[in-house]
Amino acid sequence: MTKHLLSAGDLSREQAIEILDIAEGMSNVNDREIKKLPTLRGKTVVNLFFEDSTRTRISFEVAEKRLSADVINFSAKGSSVSKGESLKDTAQTLEAIGADAVVIRHSASGAANVLAHSNWIQGSIINAGDGTHEHPTQALLDAFTMRKRIHGAQSPGKALDGVKVAIVGDILHSRVARSNQLLLSTLGAEVHFVAPPTLLPQNASGFKAALHYNLDEMLATEKPDVVMMLRLQAERMNASYFPTEREYARIWGFNAGRLGALKDSAIVMHPGPMNRGLEIDAVTADSPRSTVLEQVTNGVSIRMAVLYSLLSGERSADV
Ligand code: NCD
Repeated sequence: MTKHLLSAGDLSREQAIEILDIAEGMSNVNDREIKKLPTLRGKTVVNLFFEDSTRTRISFEVAEKRLSADVINFSAKGSSVSKGESLKDTAQTLEAIGADAVVIRHSASGAANVLAHSNWIQGSIINAGDGTHEHPTQALLDAFTMRKRIHGAQSPGKALDGVKVAIVGDILHSRVARSNQLLLSTLGAEVHFVAPPTLLPQNASGFKAALHYNLDEMLATEKPDVVMMLRLQAERMNASYFPTEREYARIWGFNAGRLGALKDSAIVMHPGPMNRGLEIDAVTADSPRSTVLEQVTNGVSIRMAVLYSLLSGERSADV
């Protein structure tokens, strides 16, 4: 591993499989009565959240505590950021406190890269979502969830070769889709983006994904192993991207009818938070084929694995 985790594209196939394998070991710790390892004792990890989050923030905090790190939670609301303090001054304050790692979520694409390439902070930077750009630990936990469902106990050492993944909905605003296409293709999966043209980036040629504009046709022709539904990110929309929510749900939402059209072994994923009744209906969200809560559980193991790989000091800086 390198010093930071900024992009899912920074991971080689071997590194990605190694993180998934370490997470497998960590999930055993999470099943124990005493869920704690001494690995990061004496290390300070700061969770620097400039954007709202439930799952990612809680999951990082639990992962850090299970590895015995000292944890500082910082959210922009209620801090000096709301008094106008800059990212640089905030970062330098954290450096003065002695942070060994900073987990950052920010509404600006590139914020994590700015911190990593500045000399404001010497510790490791972990990108927990930067604008519409990337969310690498989400992609890792998604890959981990797919691998566990597909390979079960035989998962360790395995990749996702030949697995067909359809990522559906608001691709334009989704850092989850961006990180997933990078990581999943590194792991050998075949990625399909399915969205109305207004919710695909204008220049999608750089994506490692096939493009589709009709969900039912795509499901019928490609028969995906995994369908990942994306949240419509209303907070990032400054224009009208579809006529009405009712029409979006009808054409693009996952529902009982579409669930029935999938092959028996296929799973439906969603990173959360879900807009129930919009991109996913309750029957799908609560069905045994939905992995929504497994993704949350697996997120803790993945974040433990990432923190361990970056901070445990057992590896050299660039292994
Ligand atoms: C995602 C995010 O924040 O990018 N959620 C998450 O991390 N669990 C997706 C989303 O907000 O729709």
